Amino acid sequence: MKTDVLKINPTRPQPEIIAIAARTIRAGRLVVFPTETVYGVGADALNPDAVQRIFAAKERPASDPLIVHIGDPGRLPGVARDIPAIAWSLVERFWPGPLTLVLPRHPAIPTSVTAGRETVAVRMPRHPVALALLRRSGTAIAAPSANLFTRPSPTAAAHVLQDLAGRVDLILDAGPPDIGLESTVVDLTTTPPALLRPGGSPVETLLEMMPTLDVRLRYLQDDDEAAAGPGMLAKHYSPTARVILIEGADQTAVLARMRSLVAELAEQGQAVGLMVTAEDAPTFSETPAHLVILGSHSDLRTVGQTLFAKLRHLEAVPVDVILVRALPKAGLGLAIRDRLVRAAEGQIISVD
Ligand code: TXA
Ligand code: MG
Repeated sequence: MKTDVLKINPTRPQPEIIAIAARTIRAGRLVVFPTETVYGVGADALNPDAVQRIFAAKERPASDPLIVHIGDPGRLPGVARDIPAIAWSLVERFWPGPLTLVLPRHPAIPTSVTAGRETVAVRMPRHPVALALLRRSGTAIAAPSANLFTRPSPTAAAHVLQDLAGRVDLILDAGPPDIGLESTVVDLTTTPPALLRPGGSPVETLLEMMPTLDVRLRYLQDDDEAAAGPGMLAKHYSPTARVILIEGADQTAVLARMRSLVAELAEQGQAVGLMVTAEDAPTFSETPAHLVILGSHSDLRTVGQTLFAKLRHLEAVPVDVILVRALPKAGLGLAIRDRLVRAAEGQIISVD
């Protein structure tokens, strides 16, 4: 298959390019499109053959369900049924935007989309290109992140090409997304509702509207259960380089530990990558490691925007191991921590 790449204006998408992409979706083919979170690989959600192509292109197990994207809240009743009042309040507050709701599945949605479940995940993205494509194609679009299974989510057309060249029909290149981390996923089919994945919509705002929301992601806790929840960890991004997350309240002690770890690993002949904040960077200037700066400690937005690109960069160097210092957990920090813990597959060093 030949993969076409078309540059598109991120704020005022050219109608003639949107028309080509919409025709491709209608024909049951795969279109990679930008969202405000990450790039998604989309297919007509109502066409089971098209949906099948997504799983094949990504080498994604059929047991992992897809998110259905819609271009208008009015389409929600065509995707989900028995929609509770809280869902409409969340829609009002967060859509278009990076919040995905899990609801009972409407029979029109093929079970291949939901991996055989009776629930469906749905969101309305806010990226102008995504909205224009959804509206012009006149259907709902099933779209997971446009990476190969086990690779970091793509935040550039180049990342998509690395993983999916020759596996998708068309890529719409609109430059880097606004957020760089995937959407927040909330399950509204359980009592109480549960956070399934922290993401671009902060949990703090969700809690204001849903005080009972269950936000316990066991693998994100600090206690001895940190390594628990292997089921949730197993199906996620496992980098070719080993990732180790280092955390602790005493900044000086954490940085000292990181410096000695780099020395130890380098001594063993391992190529070491370091992902640190701008504030921490000077401590590592003499260190035998590939240094990437994530952004400022006080600017988690920038950290989130470039996190996946920097993981891909270090893997390509290549390095054998990547050391990262844990960042604050508030706001987007929770999503950043989630992605790092998953990448580290539970390898967390606590410095006391
Ligand atoms: O920001 C995003 O959500 C991006 C962009 C492209 O929209 N999409 C994305 O899709 O991250 P994906 O497939 O990489 O992640 C979807 C997540 C998975 O963790 C999946 O297990 C969960 O949503 N999910 C989908 N349907 C579900 C369902 N019915 N019940 C529970 N979890 C579900
Ligand atoms: Mg994904």
